[in-house]
Amino acid sequence: MQKMRLEFTYNVYDKLTDLPKDEQELVGRAISATEASYSPYSKFRVGAAVQMETGEIITGCNIENNVYPLGLCAERVAVFSALSKYPNQKIYKIAIAASTDQFQFDKPVSPCGSCRQVLVEFETRQNKDIKIILHGNDKIYVVDSASSLLPLTFNETNLKL
Ligand code: THU
Repeated sequence: MQKMRLEFTYNVYDKLTDLPKDEQELVGRAISATEASYSPYSKFRVGAAVQMETGEIITGCNIENNVYPLGLCAERVAVFSALSKYPNQKIYKIAIAASTDQFQFDKPVSPCGSCRQVLVEFETRQNKDIKIILHGNDKIYVVDSASSLLPLTFNETNLKL
């Protein structure tokens, strides 16, 4: 038996203005994107903003449905929207923000497992890490790659039997 150990590091910032200018803007766009959220069931608004290699920003928000599983997270709405517009461009960064009137929370919201899987797929395909910026009122977390959020990922090599 061999015990393996995976290490995960991320950067924590106290305030938005400690981030580079482009990331401040990206976070701002993610916060604004929460306003378009259609979330009458969870009442939890999530916004995501994707920065493409050209610098262009594409946003998305969570869209729910009364058939609950049909809803889609903000991250996937943003990524799918970006890649349907620019299928050959790389995604450099994604910022995520959330808000609700139901309770107070200050910690950043992290992408769900499904969104991590989607991000890792495109990170692998474009052969460049996607930086993930998680905005919270209290702290901002910056993760250098999607794959670091999803160790031992299921990937295409698993399909080549
Ligand atoms: N949600 C997102 O959009 N992104 C996340 O990272 C976590 C959760 C959405 C899904 C659902 O509409 C609501 O937040 C509550 O789970």
